[in-house]
Amino acid sequence: MNGALLEKARQWLEAARSVAALTGAGISAESGVPTFRGPGGLWRRYRPEELATPEAFRRDPRLVWEWYDWRRQRIAQARPNAGHEALVRLEATKPRFTLITQNVDGLHERAGSRRVVKLHGDIWMVRCVVCGRERRDERAPLPELPPRCECGGLLRPGVVWFGEALPPAAWEQAEEAARQAEVFLVVGTSAVVYPAAGLIPLAQASGARVIEVNAEQTPYSSRLDCSLRGLAGEILPALIPPAGYRQTG
Ligand code: OAD
Repeated sequence: MNGALLEKARQWLEAARSVAALTGAGISAESGVPTFRGPGGLWRRYRPEELATPEAFRRDPRLVWEWYDWRRQRIAQARPNAGHEALVRLEATKPRFTLITQNVDGLHERAGSRRVVKLHGDIWMVRCVVCGRERRDERAPLPELPPRCECGGLLRPGVVWFGEALPPAAWEQAEEAARQAEVFLVVGTSAVVYPAAGLIPLAQASGARVIEVNAEQTPYSSRLDCSLRGLAGEILPALIPPAGYRQTG
């Protein structure tokens, strides 16, 4: 890790009053939640079109639910890590802070983040495909697959699938936060899924300093003000040290 680069990024973050962060699966990797791409990624073992599309759900709702039920069980066992916790500290010190996440695991909220904009939904929500009623169901495993609504209709996971639009209110808040941010922090996302990845050039074009934290290069790394290579659970606590902490050496 380049210490001078890290220190520069830390100072930008400290000085900014308006900050937004965009997170992806990488921030939960150290909590034991599998990412989608890369080694061990879910899309290495499963085909998105068979599991994460409306067509797949129409074809075989039970298969789709078995996969989501397995993921819910994995996530239920996971605990937020030092990366999630650092973002809670950041929120507490900024007059304007928005945490935009592509993750559906709820670990940011469990860590204590308050203002979380969820672009891809929430794996703990279920929605009826017939009456549209939505509710939270945190049972893992679910007692019956596929689960059904009181009206008799099939319930689906409350997540955004490939080919579906993002929730409009969440997207509006995300765009607004990216436009307003003095510093835009991008953590643990491969930055290849749009429209979410488009928030990075939007923030940059709107004048934000963009800091990336990722274990690997991404398509944006070379275009950013500061790209920090390493684990979110290690870099974020260094970027956002606890109050009273003084770096030595
Ligand atoms: P990906 O799995 O595409 O990317 C995870 C990123 O995290 C990669 O760039 C890794 O290098 C990085 N990474 C892994 N471990 C890390 C760690 N400990 N610290 C820092 N970085 C780490 O996940 P997303 O970018 O979130 O969409 O994927 C975006 C969307 O694609 C997901 O929301 C999901 C998926 O298909 C839907 O389901 C709609």
